[in-house]
Amino acid sequence: MQHSLVRKEVLPFLLMFFSLIVATVIADALLHQFELVWIGRYLGIPGTILILLSFFYSMRKRKLISFGKPKNLLTLHETLTWLGALMILVHAGIHVYAILPWLALIAMMVNVISGMTGKYLLDRSRRYLAEKKQGYAEQGLSDDDIEKKLFWDATTFDLMKKWRSVHLPITLAFAVLGLTHILSIFLFWQWK
Ligand code: HEM
Repeated sequence: MQHSLVRKEVLPFLLMFFSLIVATVIADALLHQFELVWIGRYLGIPGTILILLSFFYSMRKRKLISFGKPKNLLTLHETLTWLGALMILVHAGIHVYAILPWLALIAMMVNVISGMTGKYLLDRSRRYLAEKKQGYAEQGLSDDDIEKKLFWDATTFDLMKKWRSVHLPITLAFAVLGLTHILSIFLFWQWK
């Protein structure tokens, strides 16, 4: 029991986080090896775009868009933020002198860790809710409807609600710092 708790809950979380760090170190080393460090300067742009694209999940959830399965969009959110964070980490790895970019980076990492914690809570509540599936099936709901109901049940789980009240302000702080960093780059851009 204790053993499977570690395997199912703690390990995926640690793997997700440390693979991000290891991937950053490898990417950074490769750029240095092949003298392509200049690429790092521009990686901030695709990284930001990937993170913005990941918000399709939030838009779907808040009914701003109606395409895509919520479950797939959440997986997309997790994947794109992971990749986007990787690019921004490599981007930040090169010679940052000002304080603002560092603050934005710290906010991003807090955001990433918070996101991973949310995934951990969500996976856990999903397992609890698997028991509910039986109940829905007995009510005669179709497989597709059961799948949807369970997905939203899992995200409205009480712990998830509490977690969200932390994750959203963190996202806001990251957005403000990230945006200020981007604006300051444009402000001091050498147009020649
Ligand atoms: C740059 C980093 C990230 C940002 C800015 C971000 C932002 C957000 C936002 C704004 C939401 C709320 C969606 C809504 O209620 O409308 C959310 C939900 C969520 N995020 Fe992230 N996130 C980031 C990274 C991650 C990572 C790395 C993971 C996991 C691998 C993750 C997993 C989740 C999960 C599980 C939810 C909850 C789904 C729900 O409450 O409906 N996030 N994220």
